[in-house]
Parts: sequence; C-alpha cells; structure tokens
Amino acid sequence: MRVLVTGGAGYVGSVSVERLLEAGHEVVVLDDLTTGHRESVPARASLEVASYGDPAPLGRLLERAQVDAILHCAARSLVAESVREPARYYRENVAGGITLLESARLAGIARFVFSSTAAVYGVPDRTPIPETAPLRPINAYGETKRTVEGALRFYGEAYGLRSVSLRYFNVAGATDQNGEVHDPETHLIPNVLRAAETGQPITLFGADYPTPDGTCIRDYIHVADLADAHLAALEATAPDDERTTEALVCNLGIGAGFSVREVVDAASRVVGRPIPQTAGPRRAGDPPVLVAEVHRAREVLGWTAARADLEGMIGSAWEWRRRNLDIVTGQRVPAEP
Ligand code: UFG
Repeated sequence: MRVLVTGGAGYVGSVSVERLLEAGHEVVVLDDLTTGHRESVPARASLEVASYGDPAPLGRLLERAQVDAILHCAARSLVAESVREPARYYRENVAGGITLLESARLAGIARFVFSSTAAVYGVPDRTPIPETAPLRPINAYGETKRTVEGALRFYGEAYGLRSVSLRYFNVAGATDQNGEVHDPETHLIPNVLRAAETGQPITLFGADYPTPDGTCIRDYIHVADLADAHLAALEATAPDDERTTEALVCNLGIGAGFSVREVVDAASRVVGRPIPQTAGPRRAGDPPVLVAEVHRAREVLGWTAARADLEGMIGSAWEWRRRNLDIVTGQRVPAEP
C-alpha cells in the first residue's frame, strides 16, 4: 500500500515510517518540519515539506501521490502548551485536521489512521481505562483530539471513510535510527536522561497526588510497539474489512502503570548512577493516573506490546541519546536551510 504519513519527520511518525517501509509499503511523508527533523525521514520515503492544514499544497500532493491510506501523526501534542495556548491547538489540530479530512475525501482516499491520545479521557473514574469510558478531557489537547475522533465517526457514517483512532498512552524509547528530541523537551523520560547527562536535577511535577508515592502514574509504551500497531490499524482499514465498518478506536499502552519516581529509579539503574531530582509543584492539566485497558487492541488488531519492559524502553532511549549527542544537545547543523 502507498501511505501518506503526516508528521513523518517527528518522533512517532518517523518510527512508523521505518516500520511501514520494512513491511514493504511505499511512504510519502508530509511534514512542515516545525517540530520534525528532515534527517529522521529515511531515504526510501519521499518528503513533502508543507502543512497538512494548508489545502492548496495538500490537494496537489494527494493528486500527485495517489496514496491508498493516510496515517495522521502530525499535531501539536503538549498538554501544558495546550492549556496556555488553546487557540493554537484548535487551529492546528482541529481546523488542520478537518482540512486534511476534506482533502482526503475530495481525493477519494477512504482509509485513515489517527494518532489520538489518552488525554481524551481526562480524569477517569476507574483504571485501567477501557475505550468505552466517558470522554471528558481536562485540557485543550485532549479536547482537540476528541473532536477529530468525532469527525472520523461521522465521516465514516456519511462518506464511508474507514478509520482507526489510536489512543496513545505515554510513548517512550527509541529505535536504532530514531528517538525522541523536542525543543523545548517537556516529556519525562528525555528530561530524566538529560538530568543524568548534565547533573541538573529533574523536577518531579507534584509529589502530593493520591497515588502510593505521591507522583503521577502513567502507562509507558515503546515507540516501536506503537509503530507495529499503526501497521495493524492501517491493514484493518482495507475495503470490506469488517473491523472498520464503523470507526474503530483502540487504546495503545502496556496495561500497567509506573509512577514518576519509579521512572526516575528505573532510569538510574539504566545509567548506572543516581539521578538528581527535586520535587516541584503540580503541572496544570495532569491527571493523577492514566493506565490503558488493552484488550481491544489485542482482540481486534491482534496487537500487543512486545517491548513492555520499562528499563528496556529507557535503555533504548539512553543508547539512542548516547549515539546522537549532537542532536540531543542541539549542536546539530540542519541538512538544509
Ligand atoms: N513529569 C515530571 N517532570 C518532567 C516532565 C514530566 O514530573 O520534567 C511528569 C508529568 O507531570 C507527568 C509524567 O511525568 O505526571 C509524564 O509526563 P509527560 O510530559 O512525559 O507525559 P504526559 O503524561 O503529560 O503526556 C503524554 C503525551 C500526551 C498524552 C499523554 C497521555 O505527551 O500527548 O501522555 O498519557 F496525552
């Protein structure tokens, strides 16, 4: 199949591109490189530098590229930023997402896999969280993803779009080629590893949550497992596949949670020395516990997380950082202006 991957130069997108190519598919990456990296796109994929929210270049690309399916990974995806700047999240994730859907509809593309998030659940009544739990996002990020999920459902009913929304929990780890690097970096594991590198303490955002050690609990999933799930989801959107007669939604996690302190401890074991840490105030928009119920992905997509070991995930991220110090320290010279 020929797949358009939006955000294919980003962390999750680039690893998904690797996986699609490995499975023998053709890949066209659409990325405006505001947060993605040109070097993350493998040579075997073609790269179009444009925004998925810009209808003119998008329409021309879809006309030219003749893709069978779209994997929509591109988005603004930071909880705290979304609390500060909701307008940006509505503009890019919602307005941009609808532009992409409309362009796909006009181009006759009926297969769509969407990067959604556990943030759609807000503060859940119970954990692990099933896909049937009420959607009550507590930040604009989660709300914008919920909105696009809703559009996929109605586009499916009215226009026959086949879609899978994948609600990611906390993505971690790296492959040999691609790892996590954002500027600024807000995610826990890269920040913990940076603390190990620099000796500057990692701040634990809130140590007074109603959890056993007072820090937030998250379900961490290896980015390579996530990429496997994307492939399985794309396959499930094939014409006549009964799994996507209605819009399908699946959680992606390992089904177990680790606290922020447990992550720091695991990282200390990985790097072989204590990591300096300090407790700070809570961060706005953070639910105390997010752990996935993962039966549906197993039963419907035939997918389970094969790399569910936390130290293994952190270890892969650490190895990747050590091999790419120029990138993680921001010393890299961009390939092109
Ligand atoms: N944390 C710290 N210190 C840091 C960074 C994070 O204590 O320097 C804490 C956070 O407060 C949170 C946990 O570590 O409790 C994980 O934080 P991340 O920023 O790594 O991830 P989030 O849980 O905020 O968000 C991630 C994705 C979202 C997604 C969410 C769903 O970024 O897109 O997981 O679980 F919605």
